[in-house]
Amino acid sequence: MTDNALDTAMAGIRSAWGPLSTHLVDACRSQLDRLLKASVTEPWLAALHQDRPANQELYRDPLHGFVLLAHTEQAGLYRPPHDHGRGWVIYAIQQGEIEMGTYARVEDLDGSVRLVKRGSTVVRPGQAQVYLPGDIHDTRCIGGPALLFRFTERDLKKEDKDEHRVARYVERDDVWTVGSP
Ligand SMILES: [Fe+2]
Repeated sequence: MTDNALDTAMAGIRSAWGPLSTHLVDACRSQLDRLLKASVTEPWLAALHQDRPANQELYRDPLHGFVLLAHTEQAGLYRPPHDHGRGWVIYAIQQGEIEMGTYARVEDLDGSVRLVKRGSTVVRPGQAQVYLPGDIHDTRCIGGPALLFRFTERDLKKEDKDEHRVARYVERDDVWTVGSP
């Protein structure tokens, strides 16, 4: 049987797993909401607070391929706009504050690409944000150190380095656009 909040949450997601749907996202988000309520005395969470790893894999599902990572971020850390390829992600904040912005990709008639910022929201402890395939976002740690859980529907490192499906954007003349050729 499961014996801590991490195992319980991963088992809950495993049992809900299926094709991407509103129901699946709801189920995953509610499991992450519960994970955010875990007591900091649970050894796995106490260790994260003590060690403050920049990047640590907490779980990888051998059958379905979803991954849960923990990240510790210092105030000021900025991750520029990107998407997640074919994957979708949920960011859940355990400690600290992260400002997350969302963007639409706009293509002009001449083929040039720019991002238009839709807005941003400050995500605080106990809260989570969902980004579906195609969504573009950035993150800025505004209250640190922050501890966030990043649930990814697939291995995003693979999606990025092997499949080259993750799009990253660069800022040029005050406009976010695609990287230099
Ligand atoms: Fe992201």
